[in-house]
Amino acid sequence: LGKQIHYFTDVHSTNNEAKRIAMADAPEGTIVVAEAQNRGRGRMSRGWFSPFAKGIWFSVILRPPFSPAEAPKCTLMAAVAVSSAIQQVTGVACGIKWPNDILYQGKKIVGILTEMSAEIDVINYIVIGIGINVNIGQEEFPAEISGLSTSLAIEAGRKISRLDLLTAILQQLESLYTGVLANGFASVLGEWRSHSITLGQNVEVLGGTGNFTGIAVDIDNDGALLIQTGSGVEKVLAGDVSIRPR
Ligand code: BTN
Repeated sequence: LGKQIHYFTDVHSTNNEAKRIAMADAPEGTIVVAEAQNRGRGRMSRGWFSPFAKGIWFSVILRPPFSPAEAPKCTLMAAVAVSSAIQQVTGVACGIKWPNDILYQGKKIVGILTEMSAEIDVINYIVIGIGINVNIGQEEFPAEISGLSTSLAIEAGRKISRLDLLTAILQQLESLYTGVLANGFASVLGEWRSHSITLGQNVEVLGGTGNFTGIAVDIDNDGALLIQTGSGVEKVLAGDVSIRPR
């Protein structure tokens, strides 16, 4: 990964650029990285705060030989790679909230937005967009997200090298992806479970196939969240989870 890097000082969204160059046949592993995004995008049509030189805002193009149904697991793989690299470089032990938010003590540090182009049975490309709050001060976050967000510098108590962290993430991601291509997703799903802060919690899920409240009991082999509700186990492939006190 990262043999080809497209670097921007300012861009609308690295995911948009990555999709554009993926359609123009950019090879697998191409990275798009920007110092700032002026229209950074989050999940559920939200924006993503991406100030200049304060975070890592980047996208990776993958072309996995999988069916589109396997795409969610690529996102889980990215979440595992990022949280392991964060632990290694900063010592901050984050947790993953299903499917792919990385939090520290309930506050968001990393968001991941995966977008895909596929035919019926093959993936053409997947763009995995990753946004990491690295050296943002608490008072710099916009008021509407300040209470929900934190950064690695805040939690580690020191400035973090974005280059060291990006390097570690690409190394982790490449090694996980190589493992997945050779042996499937089982070990990634296992690592995801061990980093999860969602499993065992009382949760409310909005989205996809409906709204559910219950206990998050596991993720299955598709990466779907399994929720024990009053009327049985519901399988949720996409949506927004909130963890509720019991
Ligand atoms: C979320 O938690 O809602 C996902 C946020 C994803 C943000 C990253 S930053 C790099 C890439 N480009 C974007 O426009 N979004 C993703």
